[in-house]
This record gives sequence, C-alpha cells and structure tokens, in this order.
Amino acid sequence: MRKILYFLLIVFCIVGVSLVNNGRVHAAAPSATIKITAIETGVFDETLKQKVITLSKATPVIVLSEADGWAKIQYKTVIGYIPSEYLMSATPQYMLVQAKEEPLVRVTNKQESEIKGKLHLNTIVELYGSATADFVFVKYGRLVGFVNQQALVKPASKAMIVKSSADLVVREIASSSSTEIGVLRKNSPVKMLTNLKGWAFVKTDKLSGYVLTNGLVTPPVEKEKPEKPEKPVNPKPATDKKIALTFDDGPHPKVTRQILKTLEKYEAKATFFVVGQEVKEHPEILKAVYNAGHEIGNHTFNHERLTTLTPEEIKKQIQSTDTLIKSTIGQRATVFRPPYGSYDETITDQLNVPNVLWTIDTLDWKHRDPEKTVLAVKEHAKNGSIILMHDIHQATADALDDVLATLQKQGFEFVTVSELLGK
Ligand code: NI
Repeated sequence: MRKILYFLLIVFCIVGVSLVNNGRVHAAAPSATIKITAIETGVFDETLKQKVITLSKATPVIVLSEADGWAKIQYKTVIGYIPSEYLMSATPQYMLVQAKEEPLVRVTNKQESEIKGKLHLNTIVELYGSATADFVFVKYGRLVGFVNQQALVKPASKAMIVKSSADLVVREIASSSSTEIGVLRKNSPVKMLTNLKGWAFVKTDKLSGYVLTNGLVTPPVEKEKPEKPEKPVNPKPATDKKIALTFDDGPHPKVTRQILKTLEKYEAKATFFVVGQEVKEHPEILKAVYNAGHEIGNHTFNHERLTTLTPEEIKKQIQSTDTLIKSTIGQRATVFRPPYGSYDETITDQLNVPNVLWTIDTLDWKHRDPEKTVLAVKEHAKNGSIILMHDIHQATADALDDVLATLQKQGFEFVTVSELLGK
C-alpha cells in the first residue's frame, strides 16, 4: 500500500513538472493571483464558521489557494477563507511608478504598517481596485500590497515591434530570473509602457509583461500618403483607352454640384460647355467646376441656334460668354461647342478655340432616364469617344455613377476633350 502511494507521489511530481514546462511556453501561473470580491463578504477562519472580518465589494485580495469551493486569501494581515463564488478575476490597470524616491509597499493601507518592499522607479505595476484612494493595492511579481497612489501615474505607450531575428520571452518582472509568462513572436507589434535598465514592459491584446528592450525595434515610419494617388511617372502606353465626358448647358446650382461629386469619386476629368446666361446666374458653380480641374467650354450666351443669326449676333454670342467666363475664373474657354451641333464656316471663322462636337449622344435631355443614359454609353463607348450629356437634368446626374463605374470597368481613363484631342 505504501509503495503504491510513493508511486502515485512520483507520478504526480512528473505530471506537475511537465505542467510547469508547458506553462513556460504558453501561459504560466503568476506568482500571486489577485482577485476582487464580487459582493460584500465575510472572511472566515479555519473552521469556516467564525467570521474574522467583512470585506466590501470590489476589494482586491491575494488568493493563496482554492479548494472545495473555498478560497484561502490574504487581505492585509488577515489570512482566511472566502467562498470562491464571491471572488472574481480582476483586470488590473497598468501604472508607472514615478516618485522622488522608491515608494514603499506596505501590508495595509496604513502609513505605519509593515513594509513588504520597494518599487523601483519607472517600473510598471498592476493596480487593482480604485486608483483614487490614498493607498492603492498593487502587484509587482511577488510583491503585493499597498502603496501611496501619488507614486503612480498613467504611463504613455509607444508602438514597437519585436525584432525579426528571434522570439521574445515575456517575464513577470524586470529580471531574467523571474517567471516566464509567455513568448512574443518575431515581428509582433506591441505597446511599450516603460523602458528601464534594459527591460521594457510591453502589452499586446493577449499578453503583458517585461521583455529585454534590445529585442524590440521601432516600427518603420509609415510613408505619408499623398492626398491623391501619385500618377505613374512613366507615360501610359498608347493602347490606353481614353474617353471624354462632356456636360452642356449649365452650370446648374444643384445638378452640376452632384456631377462634380461623382466625378471626384472616380477621379474623372470632364469638360463643361457652359451657357453665358447660366454663368451669370451661378458664377460660384463655374468656379467650383474649374477649381476641380475640369475643362471649361463656351456654349454661347443663351443657347441660340447660331446658323439662324447674323455674323454680328454670332460674334456677340461667343464673345460675351467668353468675357464672362474670363471674369469668373480668370481664364477664357479653351473649347467651343455650338448649340444643337449646328454650325457653318461663318461660325468657325470666328473661333479662336477648337469647335468640338461629340461621338456619342446619350439623348439624356430627351428620355430623362438614367438607365438609358448608361446603356447608350455602355453600347457605344470606345477609345476616343466624346460623350454628350447635360448637367441641367437630375436624371443625368443620377446616371453618372453607373456611367463611370461601367466605363472604369471597361478600362477607360476619363480626360478632358483637349487632352483627348491632344491639344
Ligand atoms: Ni446645348
């Protein structure tokens, strides 16, 4: 019988050792477990019947052992028993020790109580319970007790990375002989809360503790992203598909703005053929169009069919609009489009800029149907197309997102007419 007991004892020892070994790799038992009281509870003596003291809710205690539903705990100088169900695990706050002198850790929250040890300056300690009391309950490895809360501050954190050369052992305190509580894999990001005498306290979502500072590096500085993706330096190959979207008859206070927004979303450039009388009404919209990098074209002053006008009238239609554009954005129109696409030599003779018509008419002004606009573009778009739309109809603005998405999928780049024509 006795031999069997010895045998069991030996087996237990082996199992125990192997558990500890496993703990080295994964998570090991800390040297002291701190729990807090879930409710107000009595602490009982060894008989489990005689109450020694009463602890209020959320009081941190040191758990020495647990068995049969009872936890053997220490609270200040008292050692006793609490039903396990009245204790819950506690999440500590990590605090930095900062004081003129190394603060003393005492058994109780009384100034004159027994001293258990000192905390080194700049160490990170675990704080349990309230951080506002005069004396607060802290843990640093095996050293647990009360310390003057004025010696503790909230630490700043610095992003670091575990060196790529090796995994890093995490220890309970800043000492190479202290308990290992885990390993940080190479290249893991961590938050460093302090760095003292070769040891850094680091924190991840799963693990926290001390590591050798020389196992950490500062992360590479992230390149500041430019507001817009940089254009490739090399010119695009000639096979690139380009297309010019054009919007006539505006500017319109609502529709044009919506169109600008959608163009911006796709980083698309377009050309707006504006009418003089609308520019006069909404100069701020024209400015917004121009400032967004789009091309401005002249579309006459009040959208007359020019072929029915005298040369004098034609000149007035074109020049008054040009003057208005110049006074609004500081630059003349760089292209011209005659209303209804109706022109002759008398008209072109008067132009100092290219006369630009279109290759795809979406007929958006006629059907006012976003789906039909999308379909017209989808079916006819090819490299070099100039698409005619109008920024005075809500249906056109509503179609634009689909138009751009469709063309982008087909690999088109959206450019102004001048860019398309190579001017
Ligand atoms: Ni027009």
